[in-house]
Amino acid sequence: MSTHPEATAKLLTQDLQNMRDAGQKITMITAYSYPQGLIVDQAGVDIILVGDSLGMVELGYPDTVPVTMEEMLMHTKAVTRGVKRAHVVADLPFMSYNISIEQGVTNAGILYQQGRGDSVKFEGGQDFAPLCEAVVKAGIPVFAHIGLTPQTAATMGGFKVQGKSLDAAKKTVDDALALEAAGAFAIILEAIPQQLAQIITETVKIPTIGIGGGPFCSGQVLVFHDLLGLFKRFTPKFVKVYGNFFDQQVEAVGAYLQDVRESRFPGEEHSFNMKAELVEELKKAIGKR
Ligand code: KIV
Repeated sequence: MSTHPEATAKLLTQDLQNMRDAGQKITMITAYSYPQGLIVDQAGVDIILVGDSLGMVELGYPDTVPVTMEEMLMHTKAVTRGVKRAHVVADLPFMSYNISIEQGVTNAGILYQQGRGDSVKFEGGQDFAPLCEAVVKAGIPVFAHIGLTPQTAATMGGFKVQGKSLDAAKKTVDDALALEAAGAFAIILEAIPQQLAQIITETVKIPTIGIGGGPFCSGQVLVFHDLLGLFKRFTPKFVKVYGNFFDQQVEAVGAYLQDVRESRFPGEEHSFNMKAELVEELKKAIGKR
């Protein structure tokens, strides 16, 4: 599928563009650890996002604002160590690109070069088109993210659906066009009306990936923990939950605790043996009968 010299099956940006052009839906899921990367890659996902949502679902922060470059780098490295096929996108965390173009290019470079993902993502519309252009010029593929941008939700009146008025919808279309012109290879459309997402999808030529953007995007993304029922604090309206793995894990751990307390674990099959004569000799040697 690609001409990558070492990993011939790796999905690159052109493969994703080809899928979009062929009308084939693109699948994307977040992952933050080595086993999560293996699970979603083995399931056959096209894009893995090492999202800064890790701050909430893995690190227990109230939102994505406290996430640091060090945390993003560590989790990106863990995911890329196992993934063979999916295109891996690494999120630039809040304030790692907001100060200047130089700061953004430097941090995109660190995350891309050391994390070993296939592209980077940052949030923002037209104002971030110059940064997008500079990062692409540096040789790093950029995944854009518009609509609701969680890192700056405080300036948007909270976690609310965006682009609902004519002006706001027009600005969202302009954001998408500016980022496409700046060289972004794909765009996340988060929490916008489905009709607006459809218009954007039909207007730009690059893939659009929706999260709360309705069914007409080129593809869809969900947070690993949300779709598997691993995150209980809240579940946004746009999430479809496919499992109840938090409760299943509590149940499995509980069963282990019961087994230990009631001497059912470990059993003979989990234990190692020593020859009976050796046991006797040992007892004699330490003066035990
Ligand atoms: O960090 C993340 O998980 C994201 C998705 C919500 C797109 O940016």
